[in-house]
This record gives sequence, structure tokens and C-alpha cells, in this order.
Amino acid sequence: MALAAIIVYSCSKGKATTEGPTIVVPTPEETLRQQYSKSVTQWPAATWYNNIQIRELAALPQNPSKDKAELIALGKALFFDPRTGNGMKTCASCHHPDTYWIDQKTTADGIAVHHRNTPSMENVWQLEGKLFHDGRAKTYREQIAEAINSPIEMGGNATALPAKLQIIPGYLRLYEAAYSIQTMTVEELLDAIAAYSRSISSGETAFDRFIKGDYQALNDVQIEGLHLFRTKGKCINCHNGPFFTDLDFHNLGYAVTSKGALDNGRFEVTGLETDKGKFRTPGLRNVVHTAPYLHNGSIASLSELINLLSQGMPQKTGQQINGTLSPHIKNVRLSSKEQENILAFLESLSSEPTKTERPVLP
Ligand code: HEC
Ligand code: HEC
Repeated sequence: MALAAIIVYSCSKGKATTEGPTIVVPTPEETLRQQYSKSVTQWPAATWYNNIQIRELAALPQNPSKDKAELIALGKALFFDPRTGNGMKTCASCHHPDTYWIDQKTTADGIAVHHRNTPSMENVWQLEGKLFHDGRAKTYREQIAEAINSPIEMGGNATALPAKLQIIPGYLRLYEAAYSIQTMTVEELLDAIAAYSRSISSGETAFDRFIKGDYQALNDVQIEGLHLFRTKGKCINCHNGPFFTDLDFHNLGYAVTSKGALDNGRFEVTGLETDKGKFRTPGLRNVVHTAPYLHNGSIASLSELINLLSQGMPQKTGQQINGTLSPHIKNVRLSSKEQENILAFLESLSSEPTKTERPVLP
């Protein structure tokens, strides 16, 4: 956008008059890099659909968790211990710490075949109230008990855990350090796993350095991608805030399991017809490392997904949309060059994988 400076010659000090020549001097056009090398509030306007709560992108916030180290240590042991379930799977079998807390499978491989893709554990502290792809778990207790008890995940029995762990001296010591008592309760064991879950964060990314003022942290292609993400691509309408998610639920189609059955998504929680086929907007930090994509892992790569998104998510041949496609998923016609730029921007949202020492099990 060319900025034009209007210079008005005037005899009276500082006051414009209608007399005299008016000379319009065009200033050199600002490059996209210059337009973005400013604080977020001065970035070019994003393109918002009507009735969207406007929320800009932001740097990674500090993890607000105040859980004490002893509680986290107890939770960590339980996270890596097959005895938390029926002896076969641990939380870490699916949420694998070396691969950004996922299993890299289309759908999770538990005691039995799962119909959903394993999400990362990073930054789950911000999901309390809407855990799982459909947001059905309001609390960590609910979510963790479900993982332990689920016959397709860990096939265990959460209520039987205190009796089982109470007789293991090492667990008794960890428990006493966390709670200063020796009599275990299921709630407190679940809370310890919750504390460990909440402690897992993603790290600082090139995007974070950029938005905090290190304007060399993104290259030109990534800045183009950031701009397209906020404007022509309309991605920011749903992927916004510090984690690139509005934490709301939308229908992008593709709500079918690998066996062809429909997945009702959010509808299972609310019973509202309008929620059929809706899933929670996933955050995009480290998304380049967590293929395959969507709640069912049905899209293998980011380039494939960006290509589909830029055409308004055309469905696979013979695949019917369960419910109604979001009105904000439109054919935004991104060229292949523009799609590559958005991909380069998503790459700038990645941080080093966490290095997690396995706990010594009691
Ligand atoms: C068999 C693989 C598997 C195991 C074992 C497993 N999970 Fe998960 N986890 C998943 C899948 C799949 C989902 C998504 C399920 C859904 O949305 O219906 C999930 C969802 C979650 C979520 C919600 C994340 C989000 O984005 O909403 C958290 C937190 C979580 N698991 C923690 C745990 C913990 C803690 C344990 C151990 C007690 C555990 N998981 C065991 C596969 C697994
Ligand atoms: C209407 C809201 C909306 C818009 C607009 C939107 N997304 Fe999404 N996005 C979602 C939802 C919801 C999902 C999860 C859908 C599912 O699991 O079935 C998703 C999934 C994704 C995923 C997969 C993440 C994962 O972990 O599986 C990526 C990557 C993504 N979107 C990027 C983009 C980009 C890039 C744009 C712009 C070109 C965009 N999105 C536009 C709501 C939106």
C-alpha cells in the first residue's frame, strides 16, 4: 500500500489553507517485512469474518501451573507406569515424549483400535474445561480416569488404583512427599497425573522471537505466510491467540472414521444438531511435527491439508459431510506459492522437542 504524504504550503504557521499549491509526494512503498517489523497492534489489519471475537496472535505465555514438584514427580511416575492401566499400555505409549507427545499413528494404538488421533500433551493446561477433540472432559480427573478405564486405551480400573499402589513402598514415599499423608485416594492420584500433564509446555519458537521484537527471526517467505494466514487465508479467524486456537468447535467435514462410520464430534457432548461433526480447533505450535492431522488422522501431510483448506475442504469422493460445513471454511483460492508460504510460516511455530528423562519406577 502506497502511503501518500500531503504537503500543504502555507504562510500561516502550522495551519493548512486552501491557498497555494498542494504537492502530493508518494513515500516509497513499505515492504511486508517493514509492515510486520512493528508491535502487533500496528500490523496490517487481519481479515475477520463477521461475528468473530477478534483475538490477535501472541507470544508463548508462561505456563501458569503452580503445582509443587513432589506432586508432579508422583504424576510423572504414574504417566510412565504400565501399572496405572492393566499392565500393557502407559500414557507415554501413545503420548510419546520424544515425538512431541504423539504416537505418529493415524489413530491411537491402544488395547484395541481407537477411532481418534492422539493429540500432543504440550500446553494442555489451557484446555481445562474442554479436553479431548470434542471437549467432552470438563476436568483432568474426568479425562485421566477415562484414559485409564477405557477398554480401547489402557483397559485399567482407576478406582482400584489406591489399593494397588498403596502396597508399593516407592509409591507410598512419592505420595507422602506430595500430600503429606499415606492413605491414597483415587482423586489425589488423578490430580498428580493432571499436575504432570499441566507441566508440559512447548518451547520458544522463531515466531515468538519475531513477535517480541527480533524482526530477523522470520525470513521473507515466513512473513508472507504470516500475512496470508491473517488475511487472504482467513486462518486467524479460528487459529488465534498465543496457541493459535480459539478453543471453539467447528465443522471442517471429514468427520468419518477409517471404517466409514460418522463421528458426531461435539454433538455427543451437547446433543445439539448444529454441533454434529464439529471438533475443537487444534493449536498450531509444533504442528509440523505432529502428522497425521485432524481428529481422525485422515490427512497425511500439512501441504495436503493446506491445499484442501484453500479450496474450502472438498470432501473425498463419496464422503458426506456429517452436519454442516462451517460457514468460515471457504474457497479462499490460495495459489500453490501462497500455500507454500503458509507452510513456511507454520514451520516457524516449532520448538525443540522436549528431552524427558524416564522416571525410575517404584
Ligand atoms: C491408546 C493411546 C492412549 C493412551 C494410552 C492415553 N492416551 Fe491420552 N489421548 C489419546 C487419544 C486418541 C486422545 C483423543 C481422544 C478423543 O478426543 O476422544 C487423547 C487425549 C488426551 C488428552 C486431551 C488432549 C486434548 O487435546 O484434548 C490428554 C490431556 C491426554 N490424552 C492425557 C493422557 C494421559 C494422562 C494418559 C494416561 C493416564 C493417556 N492420555 C493415555 C490416546 C491415548
Ligand atoms: C472455521 C475455523 C477454521 C479456519 C478458518 C481454519 N481452521 Fe484449521 N482447523 C480448524 C478445526 C476445527 C480443525 C480440526 C478439525 C478436525 O479435527 O476435524 C483444524 C485443523 C487444522 C490443522 C490440523 C492440526 C492438527 O493437529 O490436526 C491445521 C494445520 C490447520 N487447521 C491449519 C489451518 C490453516 C493454515 C488455515 C487457513 C488456510 C485454517 N486452518 C483455517 C478450524 C479452522
